[in-house]
Amino acid sequence: MKLNTNILESILESLDEYIVIIDKDLNIVMFTELFKDFFGEKNILIGQKIDNIIYNNNFKKVMASKDRKEQLLDETKEKNAIFIQSPIIENNIVLGAVGKIVFEEDIGKREDEIVNNSLENTAKYNFNNLIGKSDKFITCINLAKKVSKGDSNILITGESGTGKELVAHSIHNASKRKNKPFVKINCAAIPSELFESEMFGYEEGAFTGAKRKGKKGLFEIADGGTMLLDEIGDMDLNMQVKLLRVLQEKEVSRVGGGEVKKIDVRVIAATNKSLLKLIDEGKFREDLYYRLNVIHINLPSLKDRKEDIEPLCDMLIKNICEKYGVYCKGTSKEAMKCLEEYNWPGNVRQLENIIERAINLIDEDVLIKTKHLPEQIIEYKNVKTVFLEQGTLKDSVEKLEKTLIIQTLKDVRGNKNKAANILGLSRAGLYKKIERYSIKTN
Ligand SMILES: Nc1ncnc2c1ncn2[C@@H]1O[C@H](COP(=O)(O)OP(=O)(O)OP(=O)(O)O)[C@@H](O)[C@H]1O
Ligand SMILES: [Mg+2]
Repeated sequence: MKLNTNILESILESLDEYIVIIDKDLNIVMFTELFKDFFGEKNILIGQKIDNIIYNNNFKKVMASKDRKEQLLDETKEKNAIFIQSPIIENNIVLGAVGKIVFEEDIGKREDEIVNNSLENTAKYNFNNLIGKSDKFITCINLAKKVSKGDSNILITGESGTGKELVAHSIHNASKRKNKPFVKINCAAIPSELFESEMFGYEEGAFTGAKRKGKKGLFEIADGGTMLLDEIGDMDLNMQVKLLRVLQEKEVSRVGGGEVKKIDVRVIAATNKSLLKLIDEGKFREDLYYRLNVIHINLPSLKDRKEDIEPLCDMLIKNICEKYGVYCKGTSKEAMKCLEEYNWPGNVRQLENIIERAINLIDEDVLIKTKHLPEQIIEYKNVKTVFLEQGTLKDSVEKLEKTLIIQTLKDVRGNKNKAANILGLSRAGLYKKIERYSIKTN
């Protein structure tokens, strides 16, 4: 077999695994210490036939079919061992095969680890990721920090993009549950007919199509950790009843299975809807609301904490530049003014998008200027700061009219006929306004 033996040997030595390698004639080429130990008294030698060690192996079949195979090992003493055999193929030619012994209990453990460590089930952010210096924001975050130590359920509210998910992650990571799973569920996305089986799991053969071995529910997966019920306001009333029961009894049983399991899960619910309004409309259960709303964190909208816009921009510019490997110096004073004047219906998420867009548009001076901001933001500032903040609507309209006339006259170099045309006025009408607003012409 054409293999770089030295490299392979050192790789094998470093592995904490039960591995054997054979050539295409079923001769043993290499093995790990653990593999040798597994067979105890049997003396394993290089060049020996694998059949002498593992009588009923499947290597022949594996090499013929070029497919991996698993079998239970009879040689097993105390544990249930599975022998996984895979072909070694180069340029479509079978050179030999690898055999690996794994233990069933380790497989179970590993599955748990995967669930605990998989990206979806870990909280990515912590309080250091939260930017803001306004009193409103700081008060809110201090409350979140304080309650992260306890076990009470938490309700996080706030407009879309205010950072509800970020805060939920941070709470989990600041809690004693931080090394346990953080399971996020989008309540709006789980169809009600799947709710029970997803949340509580199901037993083997609970219904047609159920996996052979049954499946853990999300509550079981989150055991010991935190569950974020996102968009709780969109949860179906039937599901609300079932959720309430779990929160009250702190136990679940799988669909199709009698065994009741105690669970220890801290629930954080989040929504951008008014649950009180939903209760009034009969769309949300009041009893569930009180269960979830033990601690309430209401995240302020960005328009109510304008002093956070600048530090948020700095952080966003830094992150976006890092992500794309580009450079941006910052924001011009005028552009910052525009950003601070805007009302931000999409909050920090919208700010993020706008900064990313601007970074794509900057010129050689690598500075974000007003012209790199979307029209709606520039316009908002013009209308709001130039006019509305300077008096009554009548004053503002007059000021706007005067500005438009001056600007149009400038554009047409004082030609009153052209200006009247553009503005949709008669020549006499334009003259009247010029006089009224004391506009200097020529
Ligand atoms: N204070 C903050 N500091 C830094 N980044 C923030 C802050 N608040 C929000 N963000 C960022 O804004 C984006 C939106 O935040 P998040 O997803 O937590 O909002 P949300 O309130 O859950 O929104 P939705 O209601 O739409 O789900 C994320 O990319 C997040 O990183
Ligand atoms: Mg969210």
